[in-house]
Amino acid sequence: MEFEVKNLHVSYGGIVALDGLYMNVSDGEIVCLIGSNGAGKSSLLRAISGLVKPAIGQIIFNGQDISNLPPHKIVSMGVSHSPEGRRVFASLTVEENLLMGSYILSHVENTILDFVYTTFPVLKERAKQFAGTLSGGEQQMLSIGRSLMSKPELLLLDEPSLGLSPLITKELFALIKLINESQGISILLVEQNAKAALKLSSRGYVLDVGYVTMEGKSADLLNSQQLKESYLGKEK
Ligand SMILES: Nc1ncnc2c1ncn2[C@@H]1O[C@H](COP(=O)(O)OP(=O)(O)OP(=O)(O)O)[C@@H](O)[C@H]1O
Ligand SMILES: [Mg+2]
Repeated sequence: MEFEVKNLHVSYGGIVALDGLYMNVSDGEIVCLIGSNGAGKSSLLRAISGLVKPAIGQIIFNGQDISNLPPHKIVSMGVSHSPEGRRVFASLTVEENLLMGSYILSHVENTILDFVYTTFPVLKERAKQFAGTLSGGEQQMLSIGRSLMSKPELLLLDEPSLGLSPLITKELFALIKLINESQGISILLVEQNAKAALKLSSRGYVLDVGYVTMEGKSADLLNSQQLKESYLGKEK
């Protein structure tokens, strides 16, 4: 897997969301993207998955510029997106939601469904339950599970910890690590929870209104004075 974003510009009408962004993810890496509200994090994930079209720039996945391809084509190439706010289909069951995730494959591969159920046993227990009745943490697991169903090489996660308790967040992050290590899936993780995200990832980027202001190894960013003051809180 090779992934690189070059000089990306995204606007909504007159509002500039990304203003010359460069970043990359190496094969097998977990890379995190942190930054305050409105910095452009979700816009980057939406541009990668084809939901918004960049005005300028390139998004290179496995040697091909995907920046003008439609979303279903991008999914079928191996990029999958678990969006901000989960977006499960509330009136479908858990299993129906998961099966929707493999719509681009010619047939559902039971090994993938088995993997999702092994990773998130609660989803197997709740397979016939309507997704709208799941707890927040369970819905987040379903959203991630559904994005695994298309067999991605690159998984885009937008704020998986949003609204979850610290304990559930910890469990979820351990599962994200497991998905990365056991399946070799590369992960781009957007998080407000900067400290937890930096602990999970190998590298990180800090975004400020549309471009990268800091980047580096996560361990170095965790120790950065500037980041401590702005994002990580005072105590370690
Ligand atoms: N559909 C839209 N129409 C107009 N402006 C938008 C749209 N989506 C996003 N924006 C604007 O683009 C900028 C970046 O938004 P984006 O959602 O990418 O930020 P973010 O970093 O994900 O923020 P948050 O942490 O709050 O999720 C913001 O100023 C936002 O108001
Ligand atoms: Mg966002």
